[in-house]
Amino acid sequence: MKFSVIGTGYLGATHAASMAELGFEVLGVDIDQEKIDSLSRGELPFHEPGLPELLRKHVASGRLRFTTSFAEAGEFADVHFIAVGTPQRAGEHGADMTYVDASVSAIARAATRDTLIVGKSTVPVGSARRLKDLAQSEARNGVKIDFAWNPEFLREGFAVEDTLRPDRLVVGTDSDSAVEKLRAVYAYALGRETPFISTDFETAELVKVAANAFLATKISFINAFSEVTETVGGDIRVLADAIGYDKRIGRRFLNAGVGFGGGCLPKDIRALQARVSELGLDSTMRFLNEVDEINLRRRDRVVHIVSELLDGLEGASVAVLGTAFKPNSDDVRDSPALDVAGRLYNSGADVNVYDPQANENSSKRFPRLNYCASYKDAVAGADVVLLLTEWDEFVEMDPEIVGSLVSHRRIVDGRNVLNTDTWEDSGWVVRTLGRKS
Ligand code: UDX
Repeated sequence: MKFSVIGTGYLGATHAASMAELGFEVLGVDIDQEKIDSLSRGELPFHEPGLPELLRKHVASGRLRFTTSFAEAGEFADVHFIAVGTPQRAGEHGADMTYVDASVSAIARAATRDTLIVGKSTVPVGSARRLKDLAQSEARNGVKIDFAWNPEFLREGFAVEDTLRPDRLVVGTDSDSAVEKLRAVYAYALGRETPFISTDFETAELVKVAANAFLATKISFINAFSEVTETVGGDIRVLADAIGYDKRIGRRFLNAGVGFGGGCLPKDIRALQARVSELGLDSTMRFLNEVDEINLRRRDRVVHIVSELLDGLEGASVAVLGTAFKPNSDDVRDSPALDVAGRLYNSGADVNVYDPQANENSSKRFPRLNYCASYKDAVAGADVVLLLTEWDEFVEMDPEIVGSLVSHRRIVDGRNVLNTDTWEDSGWVVRTLGRKS
């Protein structure tokens, strides 16, 4: 079997390189010529641990190639994976399906023989059935198109690992032969007894959004308790540990802090609400509105803490450590850290910023912040330091060394990762989310 992967962002590039690693011949397709040129040279245009090595290896071996031509993909591949983005529509909550629709039409028109199209993007429930009809109506005479939805659950920062060692595989389709083909594609994982869930289109689509809605809810749940402990006293980290020991709850995704961001969780919970409203189920997912609001209130809270510490923001010197939405990523889409940095700037503060990977992406969104080459440069002369993305190099900072560089020893731990006692022993005023000041 030969594959095409349409869309070469985080999801598509990872899928393409991982399939090549498994021995398949893969053609990556994108409409962005610059991206295709870069990938063809073996250069990854974003940060993802482990992926540059795979890309270089398989571009060199010839097993992985890239093109902007759908005609070439239609000629080349037996299975076409759709991995283009479904961003939030401007000014609305729903998902923008323009890229998915265009990709499915284009590849269906280009397919020169019987083929399987497999959607991997996150889409509103009901899309797969509609896209199957679209693909079949666009197919050439005599070409049979099978259709399946196979959502992807990879996390940025662990994309290769999650693709090669998924927790489960989900396939929604009405075609037995599609199930058989995908079992063969994923034989490597099934050999390790990865659960393979073969189901209908709607369940497959919903599994993905349900998983993301659940994770977002878990984070906002603990962050809502932060609001309580900040008022009444108590320690949110101890609370999270204690409830997390209950196996029915589990400790993961209970890290309180400045909240969730990125290209998935925020947009997916909004798109889910928009979709169920369209279906006439207005109140069903209303709680997700609250999940979103709790999450956004955490950003207000950090700005409030800084303002309170400094008695106003005008002219204050602030150092923001971390702008990526999470560590091991250069992604700043809907990043709580970058949002807070921008708001502090807009309130009159001088904002120094440093992120080990995301300075460049951040400066495209907020060019006016002062981007620094290291955390030591960023904290020099600061009235307050904010730790907003928990990169290891920040978690491991020495309070004495940082203390010798700042104007005032004040730090806001927006991710609850510092050893507060050690910092306080060094004369720092430490403020955290989830504990009373
Ligand atoms: C998420 C899902 O985990 C993944 O399965 C899906 O395919 C895409 O969306 P990702 O966006 O890469 O993946 O990041 P994730 O690790 O889930 O983190 C999302 C956000 O939640 C980050 O901003 C992170 O900092 C935040 N987070 C996570 C918390 O604030 N607290 C936690 O306990 C966990």
